[in-house]
Amino acid sequence: MSQLDLAIVLAAGEGTRMKSTRAKVLHEIAGRSLLGHVLNAIAPLQAKEVRVVVGAAKEEVIAHVQLISPNAKTIYQEVRGGTGHAVKLALENYHGSGTVLVCAGDTPLLTSETLSNLLAEHNSTNASATVLTTEMPDPSGYGRVIRDKDGSLAEIVEERDATDSQKQTLEINSGVYIFDFLELRDALSQLSASNSQKEEYLTDVIAILKKSGKRVGAFVSHDFTEVLGINDRSQLSTCSFIMNARVCDALMRSGVTIVDPMSTWIDMTAEIDVDVRIEPGTAIKGNSKVGKSAVIGPRTTLVDCRVESGAHVLESHCESSEIGFGAMVGPYSHLRGGTVLAGNVKVGSFVEIKNSKVGESSKVPHLSYVGDATIGTDSNIGAATVIVNYDGVEKHQTIIGDHVRIGSDSMLVAPVTIGDGAYTAAGSVITEDVPPGALGMGRAKQTNILGWVLKKRKGTKSAEAAAKKEGST
Ligand code: UD1
Ligand code: CA
Repeated sequence: MSQLDLAIVLAAGEGTRMKSTRAKVLHEIAGRSLLGHVLNAIAPLQAKEVRVVVGAAKEEVIAHVQLISPNAKTIYQEVRGGTGHAVKLALENYHGSGTVLVCAGDTPLLTSETLSNLLAEHNSTNASATVLTTEMPDPSGYGRVIRDKDGSLAEIVEERDATDSQKQTLEINSGVYIFDFLELRDALSQLSASNSQKEEYLTDVIAILKKSGKRVGAFVSHDFTEVLGINDRSQLSTCSFIMNARVCDALMRSGVTIVDPMSTWIDMTAEIDVDVRIEPGTAIKGNSKVGKSAVIGPRTTLVDCRVESGAHVLESHCESSEIGFGAMVGPYSHLRGGTVLAGNVKVGSFVEIKNSKVGESSKVPHLSYVGDATIGTDSNIGAATVIVNYDGVEKHQTIIGDHVRIGSDSMLVAPVTIGDGAYTAAGSVITEDVPPGALGMGRAKQTNILGWVLKKRKGTKSAEAAAKKEGST
């Protein structure tokens, strides 16, 4: 791939139209910030240096750049003097030469492929500047590309400065350019702010170069969606939709079944193996990994989860959890952070598990809460069992061994240990350890007061029913 000397990403704008307390470029689509998408797209071009111009919400943006792209430099633009002014600042203290890419931090759909085609075109034509352009079905808001009679690029006119006939032009400036550094530096020194916004427009560099007899070129992208810029939440949603379609499409091509891509949202950071089947209404987010032939959904959310092959997770919400080989989760399970389910575990309806390990083939089938616990292999946790992990001040651990049978509606008051092969009686409140093989029983012994209804509830249907039964026996 051709060598790029410097990449400049402009990200100082206020993003006023987002109506947000967050910087525009930090809004996310497909699990990555807008700026992250742009930095990701330029990465394969291996620029010797990357400079990001920041302004609005600078602390937040600088911290984010340091996190996702530690080698990139950030440059502070105190006053928004326009895209030309921003590039001037970015070039301060730059002593290199060669080729410079300029793009904006709010065009997350740009691909590395298009960028490297643009660079190749620039290099092969020996131009001073090459602009990435495209024909937009609705060009409103974008700078228009004005060509000479011979078809060559003449200038870029911002919409607010354009004449009515210039506004008819469908070819727009994407805001992505490759420049020869020295030519760019000279042209920037001639910029003025004599336009409707009183800003120094980077776009004016094109006409300046052209007038001084330099060669400027346009590289036309045939996919206008790649250069869609985000200025408001409606465009954020449009780009999110397009990015999601790309992610789903790539997954389907790689052997994943997605029953309804329109209702399936997958972050580009997720990894999904072949023959996985994703049912409608499912979201797979963050650094989730899903192994071969697993079934996810319908209506399931996985955030940073690892799902081993053959597992089924349906109608459930799972965060930072591991779901073992062949495990069954749901419907209506909630796995919270630190849940680790071994192979062939079953977690059923209305079960919440947090920070707990469940051993191979164990089952928590119905209506339970399991928190801060370790459960061994082949154990069964009866319906409506609650692990009482919190004493109001601190959380405590519960250990349940192998082949344990916890009776329905047991309260296991932590810290407590239930030994291997032990049972608890249904309805018990277990506050003491249960040794291996023992039956732990923690409830009042039942007594039946015979004839009570006939005496105390005379004349009721119950009494009538009881009387009939007595008569018949
Ligand atoms: C710009 C182009 C326009 C093009 C469009 C493509 C100019 C004058 N216009 O318009 O021709 O069609 O992009 O999306 O360049 N920024 C700074 N500092 C500034 C001003 C802007 O860093 O002083 C950054 C913004 O944060 C943004 C980018 O530069 O990331 C573009 O600025 P924006 O105001 O969005 O320009 P557009 O009006 O979209
Ligand atoms: Ca813009």
